[in-house]
Amino acid sequence: MRDGHGRIIDYLRISLTDRCNFRCIYCMPEEGVCQLGRDEILSLEEIERLVRVAAGLGIKSIRLTGGEPLVRKGVEGLVRAVTSTPGIQNVSMTTNGVLLPKMAGDLKRAGLNRVNISLDTLDAEQFRQVTRVGRLEDTLAGIDAALEAGFNPVKVNAVTVRSLDQDFLAFAALSIDRPLHVRFIEFMPVGASDSTGVDGAGWGKRDVIPSDELLGIINERARAAGMPELVPANDKPIGWGPARYYEFPGAQGTVGFISPLSRHFCAECNRLRVTADGKVRPCLFSDEEFDLREALRAGTDDEVRGVLMAALGAKPDEHHDKVGTERTMSAIGG
Ligand code: GTP
Ligand code: 5AD
Ligand code: SF4
Repeated sequence: MRDGHGRIIDYLRISLTDRCNFRCIYCMPEEGVCQLGRDEILSLEEIERLVRVAAGLGIKSIRLTGGEPLVRKGVEGLVRAVTSTPGIQNVSMTTNGVLLPKMAGDLKRAGLNRVNISLDTLDAEQFRQVTRVGRLEDTLAGIDAALEAGFNPVKVNAVTVRSLDQDFLAFAALSIDRPLHVRFIEFMPVGASDSTGVDGAGWGKRDVIPSDELLGIINERARAAGMPELVPANDKPIGWGPARYYEFPGAQGTVGFISPLSRHFCAECNRLRVTADGKVRPCLFSDEEFDLREALRAGTDDEVRGVLMAALGAKPDEHHDKVGTERTMSAIGG
């Protein structure tokens, strides 16, 4: 599938639920999250059909997101169906990791290829502040479980927020002794800009740390600690995303930077997104959505294809520094 700007689209992100067992400050408001009803979200069978039709159009890689995808009942069976769909080459999941100690083995056996785990700080107190309800040790146990289950690569996503003053060197150093791929993500203005953000203060440019500045900060702290600096990585981990990768010489993993604001990667955009209630979003930042659910419930495969093609045709050239979206990140799926 090629969009109107000549980009090949072969990556589909599917949100399995808008629910989450965390309440991260940059992702959803503390209270009043309106959760979708059972009938509103796509059934597992509808998702399986969607994947089959999408694969027929040239989608090769699927990412399952949320909310938190692992709170969706029956997720292992869905993974089995998606990974065995002809044409699908790689299936991954973005999770906060809490349920991985219980589920990683089953997910691996079901054919899931890889996991990206969200973790923003190694400080227990700050972890609680950022997630509002989570415990650091649960997510750390999830990372251990992912490695033990044999997922490869295992990536750790950290959203960087200036006023949080995270310990970036300690975080980058997670990549040294174990094959972990740490990625620093610039804080993006997704959702209502007054309900998310640090302490409800909203997203602000002041909180964005451009990746080049962050690389400088990490290397400066590494030098001060007598460690080698990050250098461009020889090999980057398997992935369909926009991260640029570095490594500490001799380290087992890498350190990636995802820079949607300081270095627009829209020219290489390769994806469409489907929300839990079955709307296709041409772009993370676009509030224009296309209704797949109706087509999946009452239409033919041709009609499902038609909705995907309409969304493809509506992909913008780039996000044009748009601030704010009608849906929160938890309702889009990242
Ligand atoms: P890999 O294939 O493992 O590289 O996955 P990925 O980086 O595409 O997926 P992941 O869910 O781990 O996303 C990492 C971060 O990149 C999240 O903060 C996403 O919201 C952000 N991101 C992913 N896709 C896009 C995109 O199309 N546009 C923008 N602006 N940000 C994106
Ligand atoms: N800016 C950047 N990344 C975000 N994520 C959630 N909200 C934001 C935001 N406002 C991240 C999550 C997860 C990924 C899907 O998106 O931490 O790693
Ligand atoms: Fe693609 Fe939109 Fe993300 Fe840019 S912001 S990379 S156009 S989805």
